[in-house]
Amino acid sequence: MADVYVHGHHASVLASHGARTAADSAAYLLPHLREGMQLLDVGCGPGTVTLDLAETVGPSGEVVGVENVDGPLEHARRHAAARGDERTRFERADVVELPYAAASFDVVHAHQVLQHLTDPVGALREMARVARPGGLVAVRDVDYASMVWHPGSEGMTRWLDVYRRLARLNHAQPDAGRHLVAWAHAAGLARLTPSASLWTYATPEQCAWWGGTWARRTLESTFATQALARGLLTSEELAGISAAWDTWSTHPDAWFAMTHAEVIAHV
Ligand SMILES: C[S@@+](CC[C@H](N)C(=O)[O-])C[C@H]1O[C@@H](n2cnc3c(N)ncnc32)[C@H](O)[C@@H]1O
Repeated sequence: MADVYVHGHHASVLASHGARTAADSAAYLLPHLREGMQLLDVGCGPGTVTLDLAETVGPSGEVVGVENVDGPLEHARRHAAARGDERTRFERADVVELPYAAASFDVVHAHQVLQHLTDPVGALREMARVARPGGLVAVRDVDYASMVWHPGSEGMTRWLDVYRRLARLNHAQPDAGRHLVAWAHAAGLARLTPSASLWTYATPEQCAWWGGTWARRTLESTFATQALARGLLTSEELAGISAAWDTWSTHPDAWFAMTHAEVIAHV
């Protein structure tokens, strides 16, 4: 079954993903990286995390970011050019069948990808196949059901409910975080270092940014088109959810947190 990526690649989505850094998205992996390592970043999106990882493994290292669609790859190549990185490659590849020989990379990484796949266990097996013995598979995924915020609102509660239903209708797992260890075991990965970390939005600037991105994504991304097509929301309800995000984003007491699970598997 083909993976349906619920967020799509609208500018509002890529702008949100393009703000990510290795420090805020892959801190659990950074202590394991060494200069000269070869690293594959699966589902690299607009590539800002990938490019940070490339800086960490240095000019003697080699980093490849892959995506199963072209849109984000173009953004990733532009980000690389803006940073003067001529070494990192961005290629089209599907995690279902990676076009690399077995044991090609020291580290195979995926950030916020397994939650979107119909077969996350198969993806982990394929990631492990292209990792060298002694190498690492590193994955990090949010757990949507762990999202908490203040002040509460009907609109944002509806957003979370519809998002989780949509993901499930696409045969994906929105609460991926809690499943990562089980998926790794099912993929035959035995030596695991699990951890967890939070993303929090608590200052006025952070809340304005996070709420603002979701106010736009609710109206403009494929979240909107899929919710309409599935009959989960009307246009009026989408507008109401977007307005709820806007209201939250400027509330002086606004606060939001979500748990991410992380697993490093020693291959
Ligand atoms: C939430 S984004 C994360 C992007 C990036 N890793 C980051 O954290 O900024 C998930 C990405 O996985 C990609 N993706 C989904 N299914 C895929 C597949 N079967 N193979 C490769 N990439 C896939 C999507 O196109 C999307 O860009």
